[in-house]
Amino acid sequence: MTNELFIDLSVHHKPRGFSDHFALGFTKLLRFCADTFFAKRYGHRAVVLETVAAVPGMVGATINHLKCLRRMTDDNGWIRTLMEEAENERMHLMTFVEIARPTLFERFVIIAVQWVFYVAFFLLYLVSAKTAHRVVGYFEEEAVISYTHYLAEIDEGRSANVPAPAIALRYWKMPANATLRDVVLLVRADEAHHRDVNHGFSNELKGVAPAGQVIAPYPEHDLEIVGLSRKEAA
Ligand SMILES: [Fe+2]
Ligand SMILES: [Fe+2]
Repeated sequence: MTNELFIDLSVHHKPRGFSDHFALGFTKLLRFCADTFFAKRYGHRAVVLETVAAVPGMVGATINHLKCLRRMTDDNGWIRTLMEEAENERMHLMTFVEIARPTLFERFVIIAVQWVFYVAFFLLYLVSAKTAHRVVGYFEEEAVISYTHYLAEIDEGRSANVPAPAIALRYWKMPANATLRDVVLLVRADEAHHRDVNHGFSNELKGVAPAGQVIAPYPEHDLEIVGLSRKEAA
């Protein structure tokens, strides 16, 4: 099905200044840790990393919400956008947990990482929101690369192209015969959209708007099922 879903896989924000270099360095360090820990276990990698990916949107939404209350100003749509990003990442998690069940050790890692990452990202956002959004932009560049590798694993037969989980069929409005490959394509498109939105937010906070900045199209989602249990949504 969605084979032709076009996204630009090569987007990379060239770092400019300390804030960008810090964001890129931090991202590359985490990428190295993830590559070492998971190697080619892409299903497990997706489950654990989506528990992290769903954090920044909610942190950004909370801090912007509080700022708007204090300053009595408009948010220009940032809060909804960031909350939707967090929800979308949580739906990625709900999907991949149907594909790969985390081990006991991975569950421990998820809890430990959440404590550290939530607090660290919250503090970073307070100190420098533009750096925080740049970090997410770079995280999403890496997510696009990882899901491209996952697609290659499926195409080369190393990961079974199982039927798409029921929750994914509903959320991305896919036909009943959709497979894991179709899901990964749509998840990758979601990540590309977040990538461009967050680089855009960082640019806006920096007061720069690079020429030719485009936002990758966002796949259509059924938002009605976001609050339902997996059983109800199936
Ligand atoms: Fe994700
Ligand atoms: Fe993402």
